[in-house]
Amino acid sequence: MTITYELNNLPIEATEATKATEVAKAIDETEVIVNRRLQEELAHRGPSRSRKPATPMDPLRIEFSPAWLAAGAIGGIGSLVALRRYGWPAFIGGGMLGIATLGHMIFGEPARPVLERIELRLPNLPAALDGMRIGQISDTHLGLLHTSNNLRWAVEQMERESPELIVLTGDQVMLRQAIPQLTQLLRRLRAPLGVYAIAGNHDHWEGLRDVQAALQLAGIPMLINQNRRLTWNGADLWLIGVDDVWDGELDYAAALAGVPDDSFKLLLGHAPDIADDAAGYGFDLQLAGHVHGGHIRLPLLGAFARPRYGRRYLDGIYQVGNMAMYVSRGLGGAPLRLFCPPEAAILTLRRA
Ligand SMILES: [Fe+2]
Repeated sequence: MTITYELNNLPIEATEATKATEVAKAIDETEVIVNRRLQEELAHRGPSRSRKPATPMDPLRIEFSPAWLAAGAIGGIGSLVALRRYGWPAFIGGGMLGIATLGHMIFGEPARPVLERIELRLPNLPAALDGMRIGQISDTHLGLLHTSNNLRWAVEQMERESPELIVLTGDQVMLRQAIPQLTQLLRRLRAPLGVYAIAGNHDHWEGLRDVQAALQLAGIPMLINQNRRLTWNGADLWLIGVDDVWDGELDYAAALAGVPDDSFKLLLGHAPDIADDAAGYGFDLQLAGHVHGGHIRLPLLGAFARPRYGRRYLDGIYQVGNMAMYVSRGLGGAPLRLFCPPEAAILTLRRA
């Protein structure tokens, strides 16, 4: 199947068969020109449509944990008490410990992603799909510190593990200028059943059509309220990608058009909080991201911050009604993490 994608009057042709070497060659030939063109265009043009919140600290956008705010206040008072009781050496010692921790949180942990190996037990999984592996990369947020290195690392992991299917579950970019890098970094990503992406809120905010074009050049279709029938070992898996709930137009009916009721349905949905609704549509499994595990976590205090539509599920495996869900901690995002390392995942489907 050939898709023509119109990018600022420059038609790009690519096929969906991401394995095809002809496509790789065609991409090689057009990529350089198109990427240059894309970069020039991005400098002069804003996103086509955006309802990006004005400030990153908008309370509607992000919610900070009251326990953390209380602990911060107690910590501040404790420091003053320590200063009075033990004098400046203790105060300076504490300050240096704080600076070292902050250094680890900014330059250490966010730059050291881990590969999670997850088994998912699924009662409705066709026997022929038992053992099938899916590689998940989520929330790269390209453009921020560490993110291009982390994505390079994740692509290497996928090449080494060679899962049957690879999915990118949204927020591919954080800065509009970083969009052309997507093609360059992801073009080597290949899997027998293909590589597919969905949109996250940041993809909408930086310009969805351009993110889609950059991915298309790397041979990665974006599923926006669309589905694909994938066949493995003679059994079908329906891959369904929905638009983002925050700034997109999420449409389950369109996404499920033509999907048989009794089939095995894998949902790619960026925000995990949609799971409560999605479970009612008969999906067997949702793969999500968006929350980044809350970025900073401590025992008892839990996660520091949660975004809109990411308040009920943090990370890892959940069961929501009859639907299982895996929520990735993401590969990037703000370079500030503690006990919450960035990740890519290899998910093995197991028949329960
Ligand atoms: Fe994100």
